[in-house]
Amino acid sequence: MTESTESYPATSPNRYESATAWRDVDAYFTKALITEDDVLIQARDSSVKTTLPNAEVAANQAAFLGLVTQIAGAKRVLEFGTLAGYSTIWFARAVGAAGQVVTLELEERNAQIARENFTAAHVADRVELIVGPGIESAQRLIASNVAPFDLVFIDADKPSNPDYLAAALQLTRSGAVIIIDNVVRNGAVVDASGTDPRVEGVRKVTEAIANHPELDATAIQTVGIKGWDGLLIARRR
Ligand code: DHB
Ligand code: MG
Repeated sequence: MTESTESYPATSPNRYESATAWRDVDAYFTKALITEDDVLIQARDSSVKTTLPNAEVAANQAAFLGLVTQIAGAKRVLEFGTLAGYSTIWFARAVGAAGQVVTLELEERNAQIARENFTAAHVADRVELIVGPGIESAQRLIASNVAPFDLVFIDADKPSNPDYLAAALQLTRSGAVIIIDNVVRNGAVVDASGTDPRVEGVRKVTEAIANHPELDATAIQTVGIKGWDGLLIARRR
């Protein structure tokens, strides 16, 4: 375990507020439980060349996404926001050789990096990467009557979260799982001043989910190597 550089003893009542302790605990569980092979390490490292360096999910969060995929028995996954394809590879492995992941990425520069990572991971055959604005790509999937998805991961530009949810609802079956990343952002979600469009995107999608008669949902805060953030998880009845 990494030595903490802060002075909170392990039993200190303030240790829970320590970002260093969060990182130490992430490091402990990641080392103990998660196998990141060379392909995943390369995918993570390659994210520094993308338009949003280091925005990919943490290893233990990616493993959680993979486990949810398998617990749900999901074989078809739709992802909004590919970046370097780190979480995509976790999904691709979770759905197995007979599964499919469709991942939507705005930036061709990021897509090029992701494609290399999919090839290195030997999952290129089960990953379809579509480049362009996520909403337009999703609309084309809807128009083409694509087979319904079992799980949708929304992890792209936050102001578009409500639009991505609306598309996800047209692209999923009963029982499908919808997961939204970055719903806490250092607590910004409860800053109701309404000036940050990313916060607005999270609050609006939360409201839409709350008001949707077919969705059961919760949100879980996370702390760790990525700071203080959280995931919203919804299931379609
Ligand atoms: C940002 C986006 C993400 O999806 C993330 O996990 C972290 C940061 C961002 O837009 O800065
Ligand atoms: Mg994210």
